[in-house]
This record gives sequence, structure tokens and C-alpha cells, in this order.
Amino acid sequence: MKQETIAIHAGNKIDQHTKAAIQPITLSTTFERGEDGDYPGGFVYSRADNPNRKALENVVAALENGAAACAFATGNAAGMSVFQALEPGSHIICPDDMYHGLRNQLKILFKGILTFDFIDLTDLELINQTINPSTKLIWAETPSNPLLKLCDIEAISTIAKTNNLVFAVDNTFASPICQQPLSLGADIVMHSTTKYLNGHSDVTGGILVTKEDNDFWQNIKNVQSYGGAVPSPFDCYLITRGIKTLPYRIRGHVSNAQKLAEFLENHSAVEAVYYPGLPSHPQHQLAKKQMIHFGGMMSFLLKDGEEKAKQVINGLKVFTQATSLGGVESLIEHRYSVEGPDTKTPKNLLRVSVGLEHIDDLIADLEGVL
Ligand SMILES: Cc1ncc(COP(=O)(O)O)c(C=O)c1O
Repeated sequence: MKQETIAIHAGNKIDQHTKAAIQPITLSTTFERGEDGDYPGGFVYSRADNPNRKALENVVAALENGAAACAFATGNAAGMSVFQALEPGSHIICPDDMYHGLRNQLKILFKGILTFDFIDLTDLELINQTINPSTKLIWAETPSNPLLKLCDIEAISTIAKTNNLVFAVDNTFASPICQQPLSLGADIVMHSTTKYLNGHSDVTGGILVTKEDNDFWQNIKNVQSYGGAVPSPFDCYLITRGIKTLPYRIRGHVSNAQKLAEFLENHSAVEAVYYPGLPSHPQHQLAKKQMIHFGGMMSFLLKDGEEKAKQVINGLKVFTQATSLGGVESLIEHRYSVEGPDTKTPKNLLRVSVGLEHIDDLIADLEGVL
């Protein structure tokens, strides 16, 4: 089946008692046992599993072409579960422009438990040189946040396989509609479902999808059920509902983003635009090779520095000045102020999550302040 059909049907089970066409929200934390002490409904206790979480996991596993999925209460909890599934003392290779929340998680929560190197993942030789006998995981994020840098998923997966390492990809910026890391050789895909998958900026969530149900995946499942950072049935219901329109929403995001990127690139106040769909993007050829569509995220630099950047975001009317991404509304953010002083993000950079408003209104809004 195609993605549009999977998105609508793979996360929905017609209720066999009421025949409700849309799967209801099951709030019960516990499930009745049969006479033999078995569980005829297939569920025991809601932390371990529940029908709405199962529906969400089914649809995202199907969209990512994976064997199974584990849903979490946030994207950071999903990422943390991968790190917790490693033996203490393991070494991780991560991108030098990793999402700052996960970078800080490693630096603060896993200090003394795991070791890590933040390196430029576009340099394949450097990856090979950084692998040591304790290395267990390569973590990639492509396109990256907020510089929209790409790394070569197929090439890194070859390095990971040669060295017997787990290779995980944060696919939040792309969504499964724009990029399929498991089909390109990754072992695990991670999403902050807070973003495109839910798509309406009203739920936090995260999910992991595995290519194979193996021992490492069982470690992750243990972290999910014993750690218990799981999403509520209501949150799972909302994300599953949001996913039904994901393929169509992404078409709008991608089409608007391409036009907005071209407009910005031709504007005299703009120094540079980072969008994988522009031929000027340093990795446009790689984007064409590994992405199905170029996504809805971009960032750009203002010629007149940080002050001009702040003046632009404060003058916009249609764009909301806020963090996060992937919702139907356009968001714009001065990323340096959010990430703090140890960031590599330039001070004159604005990051844009291009929404589904009419493109003419988005361009007019920016034109007015630029
Ligand atoms: C690329 C990326 N990964 C992970 C996360 C973390 O997700 P959450 O905020 O749902 O914990 C974010 C959040 O902004 C993100 O942008």
C-alpha cells in the first residue's frame, strides 16, 4: 500500500463491540484476565501496552518500513531510551550539530555513564578514525537542526555494519514522507512526534522504529515498559489522528518551503539560505539521492546581523515567533538565543518551520519586514 493509505488505516482498528469506525480512546489502565489467567484482549496494564499506543506504533512502523515501534512521552525520552539500552561505558558517535536538547542530555545525564564524541558526520574518514573498541552506536540527524546539514545515510550505514555498530537516525526534520532511513541502511529511526507526525503543535511525543526485532530492540522495549516514559492514550489518539493527514500536509509544507526558499535567496537583505531543495545547498546532490522530498524546514542568514534578525522576527504578523516545528502554522525563531553560548549557530540565523498558510501571505509578511 502507498503512504496515504497506510497513514489512514494502519493506526485504526474498528471497535468490534460498538462497530465505531474510528478507534476509541481506551483510558483503562488495566485489562480483565480470562478464566485461565490469560489476557484475552491482548493487554495487561497500560504502562506495558495499551490499544491507542499500539495503534500509533503500528502506523509509524508501517510508514517507516520497520518491524516494530516504541512510543514515548517526548522525542527526548525516545532518544534517551536508545542511550539507556547501551551497556554503561559504551561510546557513541554523534553529530557536532546534534539537536541541542539531546546533546545536553548526553552531556548532563550520561556523564560518567557513556562516552561520546560530537563530530562532523559529513566527514566519513573522521567517523572511521573516531571509532574505538567501546564504540557501540552512531547517531545521525539529517537534515540537521538548525543548519539543515545532511549526512550520507547509506555511506554511514556501511561504516556501521563493517564495525558492528547500531546506526540510529533522528528523522524528525524530514518525516517518513520525505526520507526513509531504514530503507537506506539505518537500524533505528527516531522521531519527535511533537513535530510533523502530530502536526498541530498540541501534543508532545516521541517514537523509535526498528528495522529488526533483535536483542538491542528488546533492551529498548525494556526501557519503555520498566522506565515508563510512555505517552497517554489521549496523546496517542491525537498523534494517530494527526498522522492520517501527514502525507497531504507534507505536500503543502514542501511546496511552500521551496517557494519561500527561492524568494529568500533572491532577496537583497539575505546573506544565505539553507534549504536542501535549493541547487545552492552544498549537499543538494545528496539530498536528491536520499530524500524523497526536501521537507518544510529551512534557515537563513541576514546580511545586517543579529539586530536585523531580531527586527525581522518582531515585525512579522503571519509567522509566530516560537520554537518547535512541524505544525500547520508557520513558526520563526532566533535559534542562537534558544541554544545558548556553546552553540555553533550563527547569531544572524533565523530558523523557519514553513506552515500551510497560503504562500502569497507568507512571502508578503516577510517582504514587509525584510
Ligand atoms: C531534531 C529534533 N530531535 C529531537 C527533538 C526532541 O523532541 P521533544 O521536544 O519532543 O522531546 C527535537 C525537538 O525540538 C528536534 O527538533
